[in-house]
Amino acid sequence: MTDMTDTADVRPLSAPVAFPQDRTCPFQPPTAYDPLRAARPLARVTLYDGRTVWLVTGRDVARSLLADSRLSSDRMRPGYPATSPRIVAFRDRRAALLNVDDPEHHAQRRMLVPSFTLKRAAALRPAIQRIVDECLDAMLAQGPPAELVNAFALPVPSTVICELLGVPYADHEFFEEQSRRLLRGRDLDEVRDARDQLDGYLGALIDRKSESPGGDGVLDALVHEQLREGAVDREEAVALATILLVAGHETTANMISLGTYTLLQHPERLAELRADPSLWPAAVDELMRMLSIADGLLRQATQDIEVDGTTIRAGEGVVFATSVINRDGEVYAEPDTLDWHRPTRHHVAFGFGVHQCLGQNLARAEMEIALRSLFERVPGLRLDVAPDEVRFKPGDTIQGMLDLPVAW
Ligand code: HEM
Repeated sequence: MTDMTDTADVRPLSAPVAFPQDRTCPFQPPTAYDPLRAARPLARVTLYDGRTVWLVTGRDVARSLLADSRLSSDRMRPGYPATSPRIVAFRDRRAALLNVDDPEHHAQRRMLVPSFTLKRAAALRPAIQRIVDECLDAMLAQGPPAELVNAFALPVPSTVICELLGVPYADHEFFEEQSRRLLRGRDLDEVRDARDQLDGYLGALIDRKSESPGGDGVLDALVHEQLREGAVDREEAVALATILLVAGHETTANMISLGTYTLLQHPERLAELRADPSLWPAAVDELMRMLSIADGLLRQATQDIEVDGTTIRAGEGVVFATSVINRDGEVYAEPDTLDWHRPTRHHVAFGFGVHQCLGQNLARAEMEIALRSLFERVPGLRLDVAPDEVRFKPGDTIQGMLDLPVAW
């Protein structure tokens, strides 16, 4: 592995910072990352297993490297970096989309893109609004108080992705629990068990769909078009279904809970949105930038890559710290300030390049409708605990609230 002496043009840190670390405030990067913010566009960090890798910290370099085919996403490659021991549990499993390279990735993505276009997300807006309204009706009927993650932030994206994919929402407790164990399990055994349970569940669902045509979900199309024609096999269909179901609810739920907390902590910014609701789409992207909930995207160099006079050697691990990249002071003036009026669209909170989030149009529509409706229909919404008593997720997984006690 290359050490710092080979890479003298990278601004030296006194010692590589450990990555990832827990945030001290849920909407700020860990203060331990401060030296990384000063070391753009690349720094060296150590992972949980003691390995030293490149950390990308500059926005423009991040976008160019995320679009560079010399960086692989194939997690089966020997020496592929891992930011937590949990990731190792996926090594012996059929990978899909996020974890494979072209041409396999391109073929899988092409099958799914028509279901996730901007037009498709726009057509889903009435259904998303209905689901949001039903969750708010139930929450208002039962409270105050309420626990916002389970009453609202999780059921909204969970119901939406179930309707879109053709997964029965009646099974939500099961797959939400397995997703939680997958992303935050105590140990490798728990993560492997969660993965097996999800595989078994989605495999059985795919078999049922194969036997009974007629559904109009994305998984129905996958079964009756691609699987039947032999474009994918059953194992690949299960891998695709797993990533769509898990990525489709867990991430957006975290943005809704963390976005709510952040807005409650910034009443002056919330007042601007109340005064001018046309700011909501910009606010969603600015919240995405500030919160950067998927913090630590993984890649491995397949060839030597020159970056600003520094060489990333073939085989080295490369990690993208979105929380640092999205606060690059050379791109965003006053990067730690929430500002609905700044040009924010080119953040990397949804990634960039061929793996850029497939569900981003859907996620943007869900976040906008959910947050806007929540603050319109519950104008007196407030935290029901002191701000520093809220519990949020550890740094080695997707960021979000564990629970969010609210009243109104
Ligand atoms: C606010 C919510 C979301 C965030 C922050 C988010 C974030 C991301 C990021 C950062 C990536 C790229 C990872 C990388 O390059 O290593 C990604 C990829 C992906 N996301 Fe999302 N996502 C969100 C919502 C969704 C939704 C609703 C879906 C719906 C199915 C989804 C499905 C996917 C898929 C399938 C990929 C892999 C794409 C590929 O490799 O071609 N995501 N997401």
